[in-house]
Amino acid sequence: MEESSASAPLWVGRFEQPMDGAAWALNASLDVDRRLALEDVRVNQAWAEALHEAGVLSAAERDAIVAGLGGIAHEFQTGTFGFQAGDEDIHTAVERRLRELVGPLGGKIATGRSRNDLVATDFRLWLMGQLPHLEGALIQVQMALLAQAESSGDVYLPGYTHLQRAQPVLLAHWWLAYFWMLERDRQRLGDLYPRVAVMPMGAAALAGAGFPIDREKLAQRLGFLAVSPNSLDAVADRDFAAEFLFIAAMLGVHLSQLAEMIVLFTSQEFGFLELPDAFATGSSLMPQKKNPDIFELTRAKAGVLLGHLTALMTVLKGLPLAYNKDLQEDKPQVFAAVDTLLALLPVLAAALRAISINANRMREAVSAELMATDLADYLVEQGLPFREAHAVVGQVVRQALALGRPITDLNEQTLKAIHPLLNQDALVVFDPVQSLARRNLSGGSGPHAVAAQVQAARAALAQRYVPGLGETMRSKRTSEP
Ligand code: ARG
Repeated sequence: MEESSASAPLWVGRFEQPMDGAAWALNASLDVDRRLALEDVRVNQAWAEALHEAGVLSAAERDAIVAGLGGIAHEFQTGTFGFQAGDEDIHTAVERRLRELVGPLGGKIATGRSRNDLVATDFRLWLMGQLPHLEGALIQVQMALLAQAESSGDVYLPGYTHLQRAQPVLLAHWWLAYFWMLERDRQRLGDLYPRVAVMPMGAAALAGAGFPIDREKLAQRLGFLAVSPNSLDAVADRDFAAEFLFIAAMLGVHLSQLAEMIVLFTSQEFGFLELPDAFATGSSLMPQKKNPDIFELTRAKAGVLLGHLTALMTVLKGLPLAYNKDLQEDKPQVFAAVDTLLALLPVLAAALRAISINANRMREAVSAELMATDLADYLVEQGLPFREAHAVVGQVVRQALALGRPITDLNEQTLKAIHPLLNQDALVVFDPVQSLARRNLSGGSGPHAVAAQVQAARAALAQRYVPGLGETMRSKRTSEP
């Protein structure tokens, strides 16, 4: 049989007519999957080794193929690889170039493998390489939150439920709430890693390669932790991509919640926080404006990230076993989510660090009513059941509202009339510092508890959940073709 021409599709033998031009363009995925170029070369090199060990390639053939692929990697790294109009996807391009460089021998690399197992293997390797970068970027944001917490001292502000002032909390406690959300996202990235690091190679198109490939050895060579246990599942499984997109969406939701509070807190109505000039924008019309665009975009990215998750889940729904071309729609979603996060996280980290606080505005917002629960707790200490205490304090609040006076202005006579246990000395509970001091149980918003929390956050940051860049995972994002 003749070697097919360099630019013909890989399936040329079966067909009489060339493919319709527009259909060809729709079918092609090179614009997206060229980002897998270096992974594709690495997998092919390891595959050549495995073919040699399985007795398919002689040592000389293996060496020629591995060297040819090395040349291709060099072309990708130096930006000199020439893509051709007939390159349907990255796998086609690499194989076409290999045949140009080493002749018909290059066609032997396709033995026992399909683009179905190849693309899944490349894609997983690529994501394995990105997870450490994502964890690193996430750590930067956590460090910014921790730095804010550490520099906020004894500043307190109202904590909210239903966006109504509820009880005083330390500002450090407020910043750290977001720290722990991101800590869980980082843990999720680490939990995901072993499910990404499962090697499909050897599954071939769907039924497994027809040659005795040592898959464990191949997996080890490529830096995978395990081999897929079922060839049908191996080429169809995109759980790892969907799980990643969930983590990205969850992280996006956390960041959007933080961003929303910063948008609120930097508004003149709140005035709790001040945007740094370097991370704010102005208005083209209103000279006085200072707008929180960066945080508004952060808020919006959650929607975009959730869209990627929804898109992939919907693509996967109802697919018959095993590979279907629908699966080609997996990569744009994951690539876009990674790009969004790696663009967003560093900006957010720097912006959060540079935010300044208006401690007086925060303190002023903590009016006496926010300590109503403390007054109920005081009555509990005098032996009243909490339910009754709650009702008594409710009457106190109502009385103050009726008189149009702060709760702290009520005199002993008025208080005693509401309940005999309400002495003047009960009014000490209206000190926010006292209120915070009562909340030093672990995880509470009291100063000692928060100091311990800061230590716990520091210790958490010293942990890495995603395995670092291993020997086989040195490919930097910057060297992507
Ligand atoms: N470009 C394809 C993808 O991204 C590669 C696999 C093609 N396999 C096939 N049988 N046509 O999924």
